[in-house]
Amino acid sequence: MKAKILQVLREADGYVSGQQLCEQFGVSRTAVWKAINQLREMGYEIDSVSNKGYCIRSAPDILNKNELLSLKKTAWIGQRLECYDVIGSTNTTAMQMAEEGAPHGTLVVADRQDSGKGRRGRSWVMPAGIAIAMSILLKPEDLQPGNAPMLTLVSALAVVRAIEEQTGLRAAIKWPNDIVIDGKKVCGMLTEMSTQIDYINHIVVGIGINVHNEQFPEELSDRATSLFLASGKHYSRAALVEAVCEQFESYYEIFMRTQDLSNLKNEYDSYLVNKDRQVCILDPRGEYVGKALGITEHGELLVETSDGIRNVDSGEVSVRGIYGYV
Ligand code: BTN
Repeated sequence: MKAKILQVLREADGYVSGQQLCEQFGVSRTAVWKAINQLREMGYEIDSVSNKGYCIRSAPDILNKNELLSLKKTAWIGQRLECYDVIGSTNTTAMQMAEEGAPHGTLVVADRQDSGKGRRGRSWVMPAGIAIAMSILLKPEDLQPGNAPMLTLVSALAVVRAIEEQTGLRAAIKWPNDIVIDGKKVCGMLTEMSTQIDYINHIVVGIGINVHNEQFPEELSDRATSLFLASGKHYSRAALVEAVCEQFESYYEIFMRTQDLSNLKNEYDSYLVNKDRQVCILDPRGEYVGKALGITEHGELLVETSDGIRNVDSGEVSVRGIYGYV
């Protein structure tokens, strides 16, 4: 009931009477009063005025089920929602849940992540209370396995738009799916998949966003940032999670219509930080330098080199700016 009360208070224009809450949820006035007091103990600032009712003034930054459910507007992501105070890795848990029959759209969120996974075998550890670790489970019925890696770019668009919507910050995409602000990484994504030869069992899109971090270890400080470091402001992590899910739903739908990025390519390119810049392609077969032109409808990066234009596939290489990370 606490999530529902929060939702009603948030959506109301002004005060909501205790009577209305009782009638809406079929409970006694004492039950409503108790729930309101529990919410206050959790850090919600809720005014109560006799003859008017309750009004929410502010919410603490907590990533739990009540807070996420009270903000939820998505159609299918988060219908099943699992929230953890501490987890090893949201991706690992979501993959396990998928094997156990969890449905398409299951969302796993954690406040702290102790053995989080990054790309290329790196780790992505996150202390409590400062960042977001979330994983979205997808069980697309008719997506060809070869088209699934493009979901990585779809997720990048969702996150960049969610950050923009929630913070007003101009974030950009470093191909294929790092999100950067002022040239430093604010979010990383890891997409994992279980497939058969011609069939996808499930896909997990894992997203880690640095929100309140005030500093990073010295070895990362020249290329990592947080929303707080970029703006001097703190943002609600639950509202960001919800915004990412809403954006993901709409871009996913556009992607699934064609199973490629033909309808998203221009928008993706408009956020592409590498566009028209010199990049270094770290290809295991040999590094080379060229100018990034944009992406193809299959998500490859087009790079103009002295030998002509090459289509670079994200599965094989990573990309750096020639003078640094971007
Ligand atoms: C990278 O840039 O290296 C990818 C980082 C991905 C981190 C996220 S946090 C949520 C999800 N769970 C994980 O274990 N990893 C991803």
